[in-house]
Amino acid sequence: MTAASRSPKDFFRPLAVGAPTPLREIPARPSRAIHFFDPSNPKMAAKVPDMVGTVDVLLGNLEDAIKADNKEAAREGLVRIAQETDFGPTQLWTRINALDSPWVLDDLTTLVPAIGDKLDVIMVPKVQGAEDIHYVDRILAQLEAKAGLEKPILVHAILETARGVANVEEICGASPRMQGLSLGPADLAADRRMKTTRVGGGHPGYLVREDPPRLDGVANLEASRATYQQDLWHYTIARMVDACAMHGIYPYYGPFGDISDTTACEDQFRNAFLLGCVGTWSLHPKQIAIANRVFSPSVEDVAHARRVVAAMGDGTGAVMLDGKMEDDASLKQCLVMVELAEQLAAVDPELKQQYDAIAGDEQSEA
Ligand code: GLV
Ligand code: MG
Repeated sequence: MTAASRSPKDFFRPLAVGAPTPLREIPARPSRAIHFFDPSNPKMAAKVPDMVGTVDVLLGNLEDAIKADNKEAAREGLVRIAQETDFGPTQLWTRINALDSPWVLDDLTTLVPAIGDKLDVIMVPKVQGAEDIHYVDRILAQLEAKAGLEKPILVHAILETARGVANVEEICGASPRMQGLSLGPADLAADRRMKTTRVGGGHPGYLVREDPPRLDGVANLEASRATYQQDLWHYTIARMVDACAMHGIYPYYGPFGDISDTTACEDQFRNAFLLGCVGTWSLHPKQIAIANRVFSPSVEDVAHARRVVAAMGDGTGAVMLDGKMEDDASLKQCLVMVELAEQLAAVDPELKQQYDAIAGDEQSEA
């Protein structure tokens, strides 16, 4: 672990005199959808204030998808939007340019003094190893100290290089600022030299095929056989989830580029949710609704989880519910679901109503 390169007792000391004290725990703030907007696009920028309260995170994107000629306009646009908007319960994040780009230093030295008090999280793209996080960590501390900020800005890394994946655990543990990781399937595919041309999602060629039927022990290779498309991203998401869980930070799916294919988008998001991710990116307003639905536990799951919690009493031993064995370990899974439902209900009145309605049903049944 890279934390060992500093004495553990120094790990939570500010990296600049006067910088805010690092957090010991990363707050579990709802972030089902991280909605990307281009701050250099006046039409998109104008919509931002109306989106406050409708999405968990608004992210001003400065990196890829912003043309080189618009980099400064995007940075200035983000400063203006942040200064003029009251974000209420909605978090404000940004994605800065890559650390090897000519723009990133100006991104940091402009944003932190101007809107550092409004920025919750800075997303750093193309992170390769702990050294990238150390660089951002120190410079943020210097800028926070200079600006007199009271709350540390958190850092989120995009996992989108082969070396980044190989170093995923050390990246997560590189700084107490680390808030989470997102999968960057487009850059990661390119860096790995995968033979795909898409932004996230599956591929029809990545499949398994059932065995041929046999007649008298002879395989009929001419028979038609079912095939099942596989998830190209399973390995990376699973590694990401473990690395994040081990360090008490949060994993996210990333972009799903086929905006029109809402069904496949929902499937990809759900796979990530089931594996342990807390949210995803939204590249179009219609993906916000998908993300909010998928990354909120279903009413049925919450109802079941509450039943298990109630049936398990002091949390030890085993009980039978509907013919299934429940024990300490299934209780812990249920508690994850119940706690998440409570966190989300606190910011989402519609969801709260749905979860409360089942609580009412359970009481009237009892
Ligand atoms: C996101 O940045 C990606 O490269 O997929
Ligand atoms: Mg990328």
